[in-house]
Amino acid sequence: MPIDHPSFGRLDDDRVIMFDTTLRDGEQSPGFSMNLAEKIRLAHALADLGADVIEAGFPIASPGDFESVDAIARAVRRPVICGLARSAPGDILRAAEAVRHAERPRIHTFISTSPLHMKYKLRMEPDAVLEAVTASVTLARRHTADVEWSAEDGSRTEPDFLARCVEAAINAGATTINIPDTVGYALPEDLTRIFTDLRARVPGADTVVFSAHNHNDLGLAVANTVAALRAGARQVECTINGIGERAGNAALEEITMALRTRQDAVPLRTGIASERILRTSRLLSTITGFDVQPNKAIVGRNAFAHESGIHQDGMLKNAQTYEIMTPESVGWTKTNLVMGKHSGRAAFRDKLATLGYADIGDNLLNDAFRRFKDIADRKKIVYDEDIVALVDDEVDRDHTRIRFISLDVHAGSRGPACAELTLEVDGVQSTQSEVGDGPVDATFRAIRAIFPHEASLVLFSVGAVTEGTDAQAKTTVRLTEGGKMVDGQGADTDTIVASARAYVHALNKLLVKRLRTEPGALLASA
Ligand code: KIV
Ligand code: ZN
Repeated sequence: MPIDHPSFGRLDDDRVIMFDTTLRDGEQSPGFSMNLAEKIRLAHALADLGADVIEAGFPIASPGDFESVDAIARAVRRPVICGLARSAPGDILRAAEAVRHAERPRIHTFISTSPLHMKYKLRMEPDAVLEAVTASVTLARRHTADVEWSAEDGSRTEPDFLARCVEAAINAGATTINIPDTVGYALPEDLTRIFTDLRARVPGADTVVFSAHNHNDLGLAVANTVAALRAGARQVECTINGIGERAGNAALEEITMALRTRQDAVPLRTGIASERILRTSRLLSTITGFDVQPNKAIVGRNAFAHESGIHQDGMLKNAQTYEIMTPESVGWTKTNLVMGKHSGRAAFRDKLATLGYADIGDNLLNDAFRRFKDIADRKKIVYDEDIVALVDDEVDRDHTRIRFISLDVHAGSRGPACAELTLEVDGVQSTQSEVGDGPVDATFRAIRAIFPHEASLVLFSVGAVTEGTDAQAKTTVRLTEGGKMVDGQGADTDTIVASARAYVHALNKLLVKRLRTEPGALLASA
């Protein structure tokens, strides 16, 4: 039976609501934190992808979290914007305040319901938890018509108690009921049983949307999500690239394509524009500095590569022999060769638009175009990936205090490496030469000499943007300072230059973070 939903209106039986929690469950996992500008950028990309609900953060968690939920609620119009809250009134009021300016706001409130969590984590009796369910949903409903209630550790909750909690939440006005497999423990048949049982026995179950939220500790998150859908859930909570706590959450791209590819078995539809999947995945990788593994379903570099002779032969005869979906359907393009060094600015701007950078400003366009020309001079073939890497390298540098200018390095097997680096700090150029244990060490020492700071380098990684020895290197540098952690990225055909750019990018991000928490600190640091 169709459901009348406060945010979506009439919801047909076969429509699956895609609830993206990349910015909340994904962002809270170590190493995946994003700054405000990055979160807004990703939220726009999720809206373009067709996510129905964006869980933008956990507003009570920190002023930064509040600020980003508020900013996304104001800036991103089509999807429902959701803020997470525990059952405490303070949490709910903060979430209500953060989503207030959304076109379609949602408060998502949760409490643990499993015996283990109630006893050891909450130290609450089941009856008190039940009261908290009613009180929290009632309070949330005073602020938004669209309220989601979640039973944390729901998959390990005693079935009768779970049914009582769900009934209390529905009676208090919840419009979505989410049953998370918080610790990634469940098997697909557990999800089938849980959703079938709740829908059959809880009064009012036919008036709400049931939702699945699965973690991937046993590698079953997507399988469990599909099982929940087949048992009547119509909202799935997921993240781009499957990022999230511990082993992650169910991956949006995998659920989307499982439904599209297996319409024969699961005749349900989503509003996801699947051709945008790859670019959204790549945007997230660029922002966080973490590439997906090559064999990652849908978005991994090898997901559509056919290496063995038998497979290649089959592919040439009929692609369906070894391909269950087309690479184009998720955004892979066959010809990603781009203009050469003679291409002009207009062609470059057009290319950027097709790559999802339609609205970049003139300054950024000029900087990116200059670097494109430079790369086109040095590299035989410039691919889409190269352009994406260099534009991402330039984006979000508006608040940049430190700029990379040039680097000369002497390295090799016969003696210490030496780096001569020029940076511009607050508009003033300085040059420093340093020796070090290898060219990267020498370069990073030169950065510290020009801009002294206490931050520690905790991660340095290098990958190739495309194939071949003239490929651009893509580097990530992670710095920590006083509990703050930032990742910087850099790309260049020269690995050491890419490393310097990544370090400078991370430093600039750290300075912005410092400014937010201790206004005035920036001036004192250099
Ligand atoms: O995994 C979980 O239980 C959660 C809830 C807060 C929904 O993320
Ligand atoms: Zn979760």
